[in-house]
Amino acid sequence: MYEDIEKVLFDEEDISRAADDMASCINNDYRGCRPVIIGVLKGSFIFLADLVRRLEIDFMVDFIKASSYGGNTESSGKVKITSDISVDIRGRDVIIVEDILDTGYTLSYITEYLKGFSPHSVKICTLFDKPGRRTVPIKPDYAGIVIDDMFIVGYGLDYNEKYRGMPYVGVPKTQSNKTKE
Ligand code: XMP
Ligand code: MG
Repeated sequence: MYEDIEKVLFDEEDISRAADDMASCINNDYRGCRPVIIGVLKGSFIFLADLVRRLEIDFMVDFIKASSYGGNTESSGKVKITSDISVDIRGRDVIIVEDILDTGYTLSYITEYLKGFSPHSVKICTLFDKPGRRTVPIKPDYAGIVIDDMFIVGYGLDYNEKYRGMPYVGVPKTQSNKTKE
């Protein structure tokens, strides 16, 4: 089915281990709290589903959708919220859940945006982190797997909306026309 994948980088076991580690940190850090977990659409939906099933704490789930615009293959740095949260986060502990932290434009914009609602705290949880690509100085509080500068797909991550359902993560053969959302 996925014959146009050049290389599998992380299989289901690798991803599961990363999710276990991140969930156990969150379970420790938020004991007795009821954080609002905000998934960044669309890429985070599979990771978020796997992460919350490992949580032993009470929590709420919400989503936000953002897109970077102005550029075609690279992040332009201009981010806009295209679908807003629906939960009141004032005074709440917020955990933003993202698929991948790349230049940092998206998550720094979302973090600042959410801080405008006066939450008690905001932390970032990302399954993948590409620190070598960072343009904005932002560090995740929970990062699953650190990768080099390469375009990856699968497990929620797409190339032109393809591969999101792939249970493992790999590099597509045609990564020259990559688009971002
Ligand atoms: P920035 O650069 O703002 O970008 O940190 C974060 C968003 O860009 C997308 N992105 C990717 N999507 N494979 C993908 O499928 C990748 O390797 C990749 N790198 C960045 C992603 O949507 C993320 O939310
Ligand atoms: Mg994304």
